[in-house]
Amino acid sequence: MGNCHNSSSAKVDTALNSGISKVSGKTGSYSYPSSLTISTHSGGSSSIDSITTPRSEGEILLSPNVKPFTLMELKNATRNFRSDGLLGEGGFGYVFKGWIDEFTHLATKPGSGIAIAVKKLKPEGFQGHKEWLTEVTYLGQLHHPNLVKLIGYSSEGHNRLLVYEYMPKGSLENHLFRRGPQPLPWATRLKVAIGAARGLAFLHDAKDQIIYRDFKASNILLDADFNAKLSDFGLAKAGPTGDRTHVSTQVMGTHGYAAPEYIATGRLTTKSDVYSFGVVLLELLSGRQAVDKDKVGIEQDLVDWTKPYLGDKRKLFRIMDTRLEGQYPQKSAYIAATLASQCLSTEPKTRPRMSEVLASLEELQDARSVSKDRRVLSSPVPRSPVGHRQRRLTPLASPLSTPRQSTTQVR
Ligand SMILES: Nc1ncnc2c1ncn2[C@@H]1O[C@H](COP(=O)(O)OP(=O)(O)OP(=O)(O)O)[C@@H](O)[C@H]1O
Ligand SMILES: [Mg+2]
Repeated sequence: MGNCHNSSSAKVDTALNSGISKVSGKTGSYSYPSSLTISTHSGGSSSIDSITTPRSEGEILLSPNVKPFTLMELKNATRNFRSDGLLGEGGFGYVFKGWIDEFTHLATKPGSGIAIAVKKLKPEGFQGHKEWLTEVTYLGQLHHPNLVKLIGYSSEGHNRLLVYEYMPKGSLENHLFRRGPQPLPWATRLKVAIGAARGLAFLHDAKDQIIYRDFKASNILLDADFNAKLSDFGLAKAGPTGDRTHVSTQVMGTHGYAAPEYIATGRLTTKSDVYSFGVVLLELLSGRQAVDKDKVGIEQDLVDWTKPYLGDKRKLFRIMDTRLEGQYPQKSAYIAATLASQCLSTEPKTRPRMSEVLASLEELQDARSVSKDRRVLSSPVPRSPVGHRQRRLTPLASPLSTPRQSTTQVR
């Protein structure tokens, strides 16, 4: 998870039927789609051509859409991966800010050219070469305003790096769970949910469907205007083809976000992503993390804790983020909570499709529906039965030595 705090979410990596649990790296077996054909997405400025994924690794890495960088070029761009340019840390490695010329892609002085984010694989190999390659394969070919842009990559010896567009507002996780002075207002939360839903709907509605598999607040990055973009395609998987209803795969993802039926059976569908979306929607409403070991009892698990309140208009305030101080339209919050509840249905078939989720959220954003709702509370709502406990957080650009307890994986 992001660098800004000690997250308690843990990666799920459950070998099917093994019954064995152990902490491990985010590694897993991957099969690359032999053919990735993406249909045109209506209404977006997405680039969507029929793309055939090259079969060999060499061909994938020769993709014209992404630039191969040398390690030296990225060292120069990040001033040798200086710790004061550290943007965050995840299971894959560390992410550093750098600068390159927009056209030549050569390193520039900080502040000139374009900013980039360089993700450097940890030497011990967490997340692994295969996920790195999956990410280059997918993000190198998918272009959509709600997917982070992959500019290039580097592969020299054991070093594996990814070069992304820099997202000035960092991850949603940092904004929601960092106890800074400016909590995200309701309208921004809705905007982020819509952007992320649009990204997922794009993947699900592609001619050759893609299941994202790692939807969570830390993988939703934000540009200067809080437009949301999905990052981290290392776990992405081609959807079922022909008459198949699901893809059978090793269970991977993050505890608290992964759908229960997927964890139990390894059967992956787009509805697994819809479940994860429901969890993030709850995080947006409540300002609480999917799994929070600092809480007591049922409150450790956001889905379990919020369940009794989602369908009850009068009790919903109990799980709403107290940092909103009641500044949200009650009706909109109730509709969003109902939507989250539908996404979290234990029966995957009854969960809505992402395109439906998107349409519902867009309706909420509609100015008319907001203006119709006059019940914005002027004073803070009563606090939840158990108030928020402040988390101790490290600053955004924390030194590399900052201890980190997040992103363990369970196999
Ligand atoms: N393109 C980017 N622009 C700006 N900041 C970024 C970018 N990519 C990542 N970051 C920052 O780096 C942090 C770590 O990202 P990373 O994807 O490595 O890990 P994670 O998503 O937090 O965890 P995990 O590895 O479990 O997915 C993010 O939370 C974000 O703050
Ligand atoms: Mg990430």
